Amino acid sequence: MAVVASAIPEKVCGVVMEGRILLLAGDGIGPDVVAEAVKVLECVNACGRRRYQTSEDYVGGAAYDVYGVPLHDDTMAKAKAHDGVLLGAVGGETWESLPFSLRPERGLLALRKGLGLFANVRPAIVFEPLLHASSLKPDIVKGLDIVIIRELTGGLYFGEPRGIQRDKDGQRVGVNTLVYHEHEIRRLARVGFEMARLRQKKVCSIDKANVLEATGLWREVVSALQEQEYPDIALTHMYVDNAAMQLVRCPSQFDVLITTNMFGDILSDEASMLTGSLGMLPSASVGDVSSDGRRHGLYEPVHGSAPDIAGQGIANPLATILSLALMLRSSFLDNDAAHAIEDAVVRVLRAGYRTRDIAPTGGDDAQGVTVVSTQAMGSHVAHSVREHWHA
Ligand code: IPM
Ligand code: MG
Repeated sequence: MAVVASAIPEKVCGVVMEGRILLLAGDGIGPDVVAEAVKVLECVNACGRRRYQTSEDYVGGAAYDVYGVPLHDDTMAKAKAHDGVLLGAVGGETWESLPFSLRPERGLLALRKGLGLFANVRPAIVFEPLLHASSLKPDIVKGLDIVIIRELTGGLYFGEPRGIQRDKDGQRVGVNTLVYHEHEIRRLARVGFEMARLRQKKVCSIDKANVLEATGLWREVVSALQEQEYPDIALTHMYVDNAAMQLVRCPSQFDVLITTNMFGDILSDEASMLTGSLGMLPSASVGDVSSDGRRHGLYEPVHGSAPDIAGQGIANPLATILSLALMLRSSFLDNDAAHAIEDAVVRVLRAGYRTRDIAPTGGDDAQGVTVVSTQAMGSHVAHSVREHWHA
């Protein structure tokens, strides 16, 4: 594994060890990008008031190769024992012919389910220096700052019955089930409403209530919760097909979007392109808040494992570095460090550094831009964190 755990003593100059982070780099470009987040974390350890200790393990295809399963029970236990998990990516052609239950993706899904991470928070923010990297016109995406909150442990991904069966004529039938219990809808919606309270106080709930009963219930439960507990939040509802269209027509009409597991998977990939590249989008998967105010969570870039570019030094590590910032803020309440990292990312982009996926292809836009490798991008962010901490 490319990632090397940072060895930090239990107490450094009177600073008590604050957090334990499990690194699951996974497959494809996962190890490339997680290694860069570790570089940045080392700067946080060197500069900040808090210290983070890391350990590593395997997930996905990498875990299958070592343990024969995409998520070993011991890895699950380790994930539960850590305060936060930083994951790279899972999947790749190598493991595509395996039975469904052994595929890399099952490891990630088991981790989400096992840790009770029912809400996946996917912010889509357009960084001003990347305005021209979006495939949409700059005036449509300028200043964009929306959050998609995707239900993560229910719906079509987990509903029973599922599988491939035979009907009475011997034909094969593929079955998945869309199922939502009221409490699953309510707890997800609550995350959305709470987040909206800290933002523009607008929630748009995405469903397909005109066709699917399960999402008809979704709409009903979300509306009732808003009336009872969140009258200060402006709630609207939208069918998913319309939402897909509105996201590219006028994305700034949204603030917080809440939706089902499957719809959220699709819409968040779409939203990532508003920001210029899938390589820019971080995500946080969170469960309930514990009594000390912390949220146990799994943090991962939205992009996949991109095996075709793994190990070549061209993957964009920023989504993973930004996922680390989300972790420090959300699981460790370390706003200082989260800000330091996010500001460093903006400074590095302003200075013109780009990985290939966010680099302009030519013309005036290419002026002042330097295309850098995965490792150089990580080093620039780390350097900037170090230079500007508390400046
Ligand atoms: C994502 C991914 C995963 C998902 C896959 C890898 C299982 O696409 O996190 O969006 O579908 O949830
Ligand atoms: Mg996806």
